[in-house]
Amino acid sequence: MTTQAAGSRATAAAGSRAAAAAAIRHHYDVGNEFYRLWLDPSLTYSCAMPDGPDDDLEAAQERKLRFHLDAVNARGAGAVLDIGCGWGAVLGRLAGTYRVPRAVGLTLSVEQAAHITGIGDPGVEVRTEDWRDYEPDGPFDGIISIGAFEHFARPDDSPAERIRTYREFFERTRSWLTDDGALSLQTIAYANMPREAASTFIQQEIFPDAELPTLAEIAIAAEGLLETRSVRNDRLDYAWTCERWASRLRAHRAEATALVGPDVVARYERYLRMSALGFRMGKICLYRLVFAPYPRGYARRAAAR
Ligand SMILES: C[S@@+](CC[C@H](N)C(=O)[O-])C[C@H]1O[C@@H](n2cnc3c(N)ncnc32)[C@H](O)[C@@H]1O
Repeated sequence: MTTQAAGSRATAAAGSRAAAAAAIRHHYDVGNEFYRLWLDPSLTYSCAMPDGPDDDLEAAQERKLRFHLDAVNARGAGAVLDIGCGWGAVLGRLAGTYRVPRAVGLTLSVEQAAHITGIGDPGVEVRTEDWRDYEPDGPFDGIISIGAFEHFARPDDSPAERIRTYREFFERTRSWLTDDGALSLQTIAYANMPREAASTFIQQEIFPDAELPTLAEIAIAAEGLLETRSVRNDRLDYAWTCERWASRLRAHRAEATALVGPDVVARYERYLRMSALGFRMGKICLYRLVFAPYPRGYARRAAAR
């Protein structure tokens, strides 16, 4: 590669990081108080794990958090990383119930980072940093990433570019894990719907610059780097979660309108209703995947191919 080509690739990468950060702020920096009105008390903003239609949102979110914490064997771990840590529900449990001495969270949202710093849990470090720029100073026994993968690729990426981004994610997370560590990943994905049929309303007004993966893209990107231990598609859990969020927002419509105005409230109500329908119809789905590093020898042979 010429220095000029290397320079323009670096400039493009920096531009793409800035766009990603701006897109995240567009969505998450609407204000913590707005989200507090309709999320559960832990401010978990991702698909819950209900044990039936009558379950309670808070209990269903706790069950989901436990699923991921147990998937990476957090009990007894020395250090765990949460990529896309939101308002810190995983970090709080790592520091509290699981007594993990070091818990690091990455987010692109300044408001989320300030919220976590304000809690001040022992051993918790939160960084407003893209995972592509993060350089950890030690290995992790577990890595959790819930609801962030959807933000990694961009709508105008080619299939090859999307897979390159996902592979970089798996290469980096693999290199940060101890040999007996694990990665627990939760993401929405395209299912029975072509990419071109995705809602422009959600893409342009709710999650600008975000793009969903397909299961095939995730599998190709992880090949030779990480072993897939389990895959679950819990799409009806997400339909349930969106319906719960929508009815809570509806119940607090007046307070929400006073905080962010009628247009934002109407946009969120529409997006939650549309998403619930998409999950119910199987157009989009919700994967929970657990990965583990291959034994070192295999990974080296695959990389050399
Ligand atoms: C839908 S929220 C999920 C938050 C949290 N995991 C939860 O379940 O409540 C997505 C999170 O991913 C973060 N995020 C998105 N892209 C990221 C990136 N490239 N690097 C670090 N964090 C990112 C956002 O800042 C946000 O905290």
